[in-house]
Amino acid sequence: MAKTQLSTKHVLGIKYLNKRDIQLIFDTADNFKEVINRPIKKVPSLRDVTIANLFFENSTRTKLSFELAEKRLSADVINFSASSSSVKKGETLLDTVNNILSMKVDMVVIRHPSPGAPAFLANHIDANIVNAGDGTHEHPTQALLDAYSMREELGDLKGKKIVICGDILHSRVALSNIFCLKKLGAKVKVCGPPTLIPKHIDSLGIDVEYDIRKALEWCDVANILRIQLERQELKYFPSLREYAKFFGVNRNLLDSLDTETIIMHPGPINRGVEITSDVADSDQSIILQQVENGVAIRMAILYLLANRR
Ligand code: CP
Repeated sequence: MAKTQLSTKHVLGIKYLNKRDIQLIFDTADNFKEVINRPIKKVPSLRDVTIANLFFENSTRTKLSFELAEKRLSADVINFSASSSSVKKGETLLDTVNNILSMKVDMVVIRHPSPGAPAFLANHIDANIVNAGDGTHEHPTQALLDAYSMREELGDLKGKKIVICGDILHSRVALSNIFCLKKLGAKVKVCGPPTLIPKHIDSLGIDVEYDIRKALEWCDVANILRIQLERQELKYFPSLREYAKFFGVNRNLLDSLDTETIIMHPGPINRGVEITSDVADSDQSIILQQVENGVAIRMAILYLLANRR
């Protein structure tokens, strides 16, 4: 197979990509990052390709980033939001998508609250599918832009120490990050309250640290995750105040360390809970770099999938 092709027709999860796919996405994103920093940011690569963005769950960054990536590549774009659609009248996912595909759509970007919804579509329709986040399962484009941003700061991630802090149990970002970073040879730990660490975490080949100070002292990068209150049916910790006290990343904590950790967050941020504003907005934080890189990474993925059509 040529080195300019992904091994897969869809991007359903990092689990299904190999290391060479990830490197290819990064190399392609390098080119697109240069493009989006030019005065003329648009290229004709996806002219005559039609992409449907199907969002069955709320999104700010991912939705806007995909739409911008598609427009920068000159694709034709249609947007679908479940909250204002006939899904509200009982239409099924497959009926919705088949109706959209009848309009000659080539690629589908889908965010859905049910884990496996993108894989279900990939089994039933001919279009290329990109998972933009499926329930608590995977968020592959977020993990790729996270690893790409880390690589920009640290170079090759082999042997680099990354800690993912927060609500690991409900986080698709955590799982995709773990898969991606392990494939790139990084050392990965997770940190959070025991109730928010999945029981099977050992099977992923990573370590758990329950002390946020020790976790931050150990790592080169800390990727801080949001507490996903909307996915929590039970009470996993006594209060947000207590969570912030024991697991929140704040200025005093960072200043008391001997190391200068790079701080990341996929957003949206709960300011004052998992991270304080004086950390999120500091020079140590690369949160907005992550957002910028998201456009280049998504351009790369769409471009590479179009090459496989
Ligand atoms: N990081 C992320 O997925 O953000 P959105 O939910 O706003 O897309």
